[in-house]
Amino acid sequence: MKKRTIRLHCRELVEQINRLIAQMTLAEKLGQLTMTAADYAVTGPLITPVSEDAIRSGAIGNLLNLYGAGPTHRIQKIAVEESRLRIPLLLGFDALHGQRTVFPIPLAEAGLFDPAAWEATARLAAEECAGDGLNMTFAPMLDVSRDPRWGRIAESPGEDPFVGSAFARAKTRGFQSADLAGTNAVSACAKHYVAYGAINAGREYASTDMSEAMLREVYLPPFRAAVEAGVAAIMPAFTDLNGIPMTAHVHLLQNVLREELGFEGVLVTDYHAIAELLNHGVAGDLAEAAALALKAGVDIDMMSDAYRLGLPQALQRNLVAMEEIDAAVRRVLVLKERLGLFADPYRRGRSDVSVTAQSRALARDVGARSLVLLKNDANILPLAAPKLAVIGPLADAGGEMGGPWGGAGRSEDCVGVLQGLTDAGLIVRHAPGVAIDTDDVSGIASALELCADADVILLCLGEAALMSGEAASRAYLGLPGAQQELADAVFEKAGGKPVVVVLFSGRPLAVPSLVSRAHAVLAAWFPGCEAGHAIADVLTGKVSPSGRTAVSWPRAVGQIPIFFGERPGGRPFNPKDHFTSHYSDVENTPLFPFGHGLTYGDFELSNFRVEPDGDGLTVKVDVANHGALAAEETVFLFLNQKKPGVTRPLLELKGFGKIALPPSEQGTVTLTLPRPIGRAELFVGPKAAFSSLLSLSI
Ligand code: NOJ
Repeated sequence: MKKRTIRLHCRELVEQINRLIAQMTLAEKLGQLTMTAADYAVTGPLITPVSEDAIRSGAIGNLLNLYGAGPTHRIQKIAVEESRLRIPLLLGFDALHGQRTVFPIPLAEAGLFDPAAWEATARLAAEECAGDGLNMTFAPMLDVSRDPRWGRIAESPGEDPFVGSAFARAKTRGFQSADLAGTNAVSACAKHYVAYGAINAGREYASTDMSEAMLREVYLPPFRAAVEAGVAAIMPAFTDLNGIPMTAHVHLLQNVLREELGFEGVLVTDYHAIAELLNHGVAGDLAEAAALALKAGVDIDMMSDAYRLGLPQALQRNLVAMEEIDAAVRRVLVLKERLGLFADPYRRGRSDVSVTAQSRALARDVGARSLVLLKNDANILPLAAPKLAVIGPLADAGGEMGGPWGGAGRSEDCVGVLQGLTDAGLIVRHAPGVAIDTDDVSGIASALELCADADVILLCLGEAALMSGEAASRAYLGLPGAQQELADAVFEKAGGKPVVVVLFSGRPLAVPSLVSRAHAVLAAWFPGCEAGHAIADVLTGKVSPSGRTAVSWPRAVGQIPIFFGERPGGRPFNPKDHFTSHYSDVENTPLFPFGHGLTYGDFELSNFRVEPDGDGLTVKVDVANHGALAAEETVFLFLNQKKPGVTRPLLELKGFGKIALPPSEQGTVTLTLPRPIGRAELFVGPKAAFSSLLSLSI
């Protein structure tokens, strides 16, 4: 009965929308297929500045990069009260990891391995977006990436498709909630479909090339999960895959995404992507480019103005048919209806949004849980109320803490490390020593002076926020500028005094010597607006670290791409046999594997067992905390499947779970997985390293 009612509603809706389309001029239709950028944030070339007249005339039907209750209301009012057909605007913005309240960068947040937390931050971001008058966000970013040279790995959920899929579901639910028309819901836009994370040599905007098997196994699953979770929009990547630009990829957009995965929502291009089909060399002019994108099923042209300028000619040249334009317009109008915009275009954006005590509390909690304790020799951490020398260019750098793309967050709302430590009541003296990325070493001497009467030296080092993110690829993954020189000087001067490194970055860094010389290393990534408090919470032991790296850390750039899901190869490494797979100048293993992250507990896993459970298997493992402090352990479940004739990865992630345990307590983690066909081995453990895994053959 319920199903019938919904279908009836859908039919009525389509008829209503068809009636609207029948009244539209070609220019009005193309307006609905156009999204133009305002300049509240600049995320690409501003080639077509928004004119209110264009909205009034129906020539522009959607905007990005404008936010705030006042401005969005004013612009929506022009569309709804002054344009001929009174069609409301889609108003979109990138709230990748928060809107006003900035949470940790996605790569860091992935390391919580906690779908409820992933959903909670998306929910709050959606509430803030809606408060800011937006109805769409260009998130979640779902590009699996195994290449830390690529700056956008910062925006991604890391190297693994299972994690990416869980992230996709949680984020889609969080942004859209159960009711897309809700005053606190926005349309999610999963991006960038597909395989952008496998870009050649990690160089931004380069090509991608891979087998169909790899595409389906690694890069497609998060998008499948987003579609299954009901994501309302998807953004094709800028890149070309196997020689076909994604913006014009009929097979992957039409056959795979729309037909096979069943995506019925709106495809929004990336910024200027249709015009870039000319640079790709697949279109001779804007009309051809527009036709290629439309034929691939792309609905909204973001910032190329190719549909408005090119499609009229494409129609004349019979490159496209009016029905194809109408189909795209229909999908856009259906989304506007689903968002409740026809019923009440002003339902969002009713009040001004700001960072609140409540949103800060969530940012602090998630921020602290995203920190990954890479090393902690002799349990130097947590700190026991010492006098601290806080050295390094990232100690007093609140403005860097939001990472490369902190939505509408303001740098003055972000708490740096120095402030966080001071607020925690620690005695702190500070000198930057060097800047983040210059060769000037003149400040090192005065920084070293501070080390003399400190109990512990805290080195705050790493990348500037804008060294990762879009258009921020790096070929060297060491510390930028003269920071390694500063660190070496501090290690010399410290003479055995504890040196704790807090390392900021939008990617794993290849810093083996820094790690080996430091007593403790905390990977902070970019933790968001509560960075300083979150870091102080972990350093002082108020919070036991629980973050796990969602991506492998290389020892050297030459190991990249490095990831745990490798296939065995015919000559797996054997130290006694030269003719086996290895480097002659570096180990095969990563500096830190996927899943690595220490806690203040001391965990032991035992009694790994598997029971049949319908079509699946239930896996249980006991976890005991032998340490003196309460802590949270993360358990990963991996599969190695043997298939006749086809190689399979040595480890495939099939589940993860967490358990918080006080000292001397024990509990059980239970996970489920579909029953594998044929011979297989299951593994559980705290990270993707064979030496730390328990195994069972099934
Ligand atoms: C370009 C980026 O690739 C995309 O992720 C983003 O959503 C748009 N700019 C809009 O800011």
